[in-house]
Amino acid sequence: MSSAENPLFFTASVAPGGQQVDAWLNQPLLLSLEQGSVDWPSSCRNGTCRTCIGQLAQGQVRYEIDWPGLSAEERFDGYVLPCVAYPCSDLTLQRES
Ligand code: FES
Repeated sequence: MSSAENPLFFTASVAPGGQQVDAWLNQPLLLSLEQGSVDWPSSCRNGTCRTCIGQLAQGQVRYEIDWPGLSAEERFDGYVLPCVAYPCSDLTLQRES
């Protein structure tokens, strides 16, 4: 389990469906989804193609690249690119419909 002061991972839930995975702080969310056997679309894996786009219903992520392929408005609306997004909290990720 993660410690409250210094967690190694958070919990990521996928909606719809409620599947949960360990979302490790030191790797992109997409890898954690795949390690948890979540079937999530991806292609470029570098934040440009938007194949992996989802929307955070809850929680926060950070990026290690300055401008992932999202507009400021999309980021404000909670859209994320899991291939380059790192979890900052427990989160719920909504599939694009
Ligand atoms: S897989 Fe291309 S932006 Fe995430």
